[in-house]
Amino acid sequence: MTSAAHDGPLGIFDSGVGGISVLNAIRQILPREDLLYVADSGHLPYGEKTPAYIVARALRLAEFFLSRGAKAVAIPCNTATAVAVEALRDRYPGLPIVGIEPAVKPAARLTQSGVIGVLATTGTLLSERFHALVRREAPGVEVLLKPCPGWVALAEEGWTPERDHLVAEPLAELVAKGADVLVLGCTHFPFLIDPIRRHVGPDVAVLETGVPFARQLQRQLLVHGLARAAGEGSVRFLTSGAPAEAAGRIARLTGETAEVERLPAEYC
Ligand code: DGL
Repeated sequence: MTSAAHDGPLGIFDSGVGGISVLNAIRQILPREDLLYVADSGHLPYGEKTPAYIVARALRLAEFFLSRGAKAVAIPCNTATAVAVEALRDRYPGLPIVGIEPAVKPAARLTQSGVIGVLATTGTLLSERFHALVRREAPGVEVLLKPCPGWVALAEEGWTPERDHLVAEPLAELVAKGADVLVLGCTHFPFLIDPIRRHVGPDVAVLETGVPFARQLQRQLLVHGLARAAGEGSVRFLTSGAPAEAAGRIARLTGETAEVERLPAEYC
């Protein structure tokens, strides 16, 4: 174990506010834990960066979490998991590190048409880890890949009717090709669930992974004897971007007022 008293916080990061869609599930399933959420908004979007860039950010943020006594690191970011989770585990072999992956496995079980669509960032869809997941979990299923880089900005800045076509077009293409299950393979995308559902209608299932991810994190804490047995947890937000902007986005997406601190300069 590199660090981490039983009582340390959980270090959680995403490129921006996308991981907040998963943080809500973490708060419900692990209400006793202290959560330290970093929105790495100074480096958004991860999905269009090189793997080396994302690995460097993930290692830097893990250093930050360990400097704060984190007992585990959670990555509610498909892109960072796809590209950097192995490098993090190599660097910190004793530290529980929980990554996320697109819901390809449940989608492959659920489809009636034999066609599923995966909406994610370019980085996730190009990664070897994602392709291994598809080979392992969806043999015999046609898996349509749809990079949606514009959706990350939409989730961050807020959906508007003028930009609704950015949501509609990729969905129409996947449904026209026969997909009856869609996988939201980016944690920003659940924040677009209302327009998504409006466009695809009731006959297409839309899957995301917040709750299964939070349960996996809970299992890992229990396995390592790190889960808190009592007390009330807290959430602290930090960002490598502009704190006031991040606070406004978190408030819009969660309905809660949030204080956001600037990440110390050496980790930005
Ligand atoms: N929310 C992230 C994901 O799940 C990354 C989005 C981005 O920064 O491109 O992939």
